[in-house]
Amino acid sequence: MPSVIQNISDTARWVASYRAMESERPDALFRDPLARRLGGNRGEQIVRTMPLAATSGWVISVRTAVLDEFILSTIEKEGVDLVLNLAAGFDARPYRLPLPPTLTWVEVDLPGVLEEKVQLLEGETPHCRLERITADLSDVDARRAVFQAVGAKGTKALILTEGLLMYLADWQVASLASDLAQVPTFRLWAMDSIGPEMKRLLNLIWFRHLTSGNATFKFAPREGARFFHPFGWAQREYRSYETESRRLNRAPLVAEAWHRLQWLALPVVRELVRSEGGMALLESRKR
Ligand SMILES: C[S@@+](CC[C@H](N)C(=O)[O-])C[C@H]1O[C@@H](n2cnc3c(N)ncnc32)[C@H](O)[C@@H]1O
Repeated sequence: MPSVIQNISDTARWVASYRAMESERPDALFRDPLARRLGGNRGEQIVRTMPLAATSGWVISVRTAVLDEFILSTIEKEGVDLVLNLAAGFDARPYRLPLPPTLTWVEVDLPGVLEEKVQLLEGETPHCRLERITADLSDVDARRAVFQAVGAKGTKALILTEGLLMYLADWQVASLASDLAQVPTFRLWAMDSIGPEMKRLLNLIWFRHLTSGNATFKFAPREGARFFHPFGWAQREYRSYETESRRLNRAPLVAEAWHRLQWLALPVVRELVRSEGGMALLESRKR
């Protein structure tokens, strides 16, 4: 039987379906009324078919909610006037977040995704200035041209890479980080990350589906966001899935059990668990 994930862009439908599921809960952490439409039947099918996928939505709920907080607080408190969402997929934040109308939001993704997105969102109005650029981010010359052009659109930019880096090899992430650091207005970078043990587990559980979509997880540095230091970025804040899932009341049973028993574990093991996945806010080291 063919896999439900046929290419990397199908992962965008998958996570949009999780946002739809969260939005439909009475105690939703966020409401994304466009997510059901954007995820479509294929997104629902992925959630239904992939092993353990139906119970994994809490990860995307927590990731979305925490990144929403990073985005809104940097706009409100730090004068961010430009957001560059790399690998934006079917994210609909420009339509659902209370963004200032003066903010410029630029989405980049592969042509297939963005063409479909434009059609699906026809007639919808974003809350800020919204531009879309089709580009293959693995094409170094193309992405440098995009970064230069987008960098001139604001005075202080927040870069967003949500659900992208884990699909890239370490050297690709390093090269992307260096390119982003070259642009004077690119000051902040919000991202999610996984650690090596989580990568092993996910690649094992979803092996068939991820390989058939050329979407196996790769980037999962043991050192977390310290990976980015040599490439011009310093970690300002890190929020682990472990603590944030409890704060947001989305912790699965295994996380609750760990919370009760972790006092039995060595500090090094507790740190290991904390670093196995979360959301980070990085700042540029340039002055
Ligand atoms: C898991 S989805 C995340 C989408 C979105 N950021 C979100 O969280 O809903 C991964 C996205 O990365 C995009 N992507 C993967 N490789 C890419 C590349 N080389 N250039 C541009 N986009 C890419 C895919 O098309 C897909 O939309």
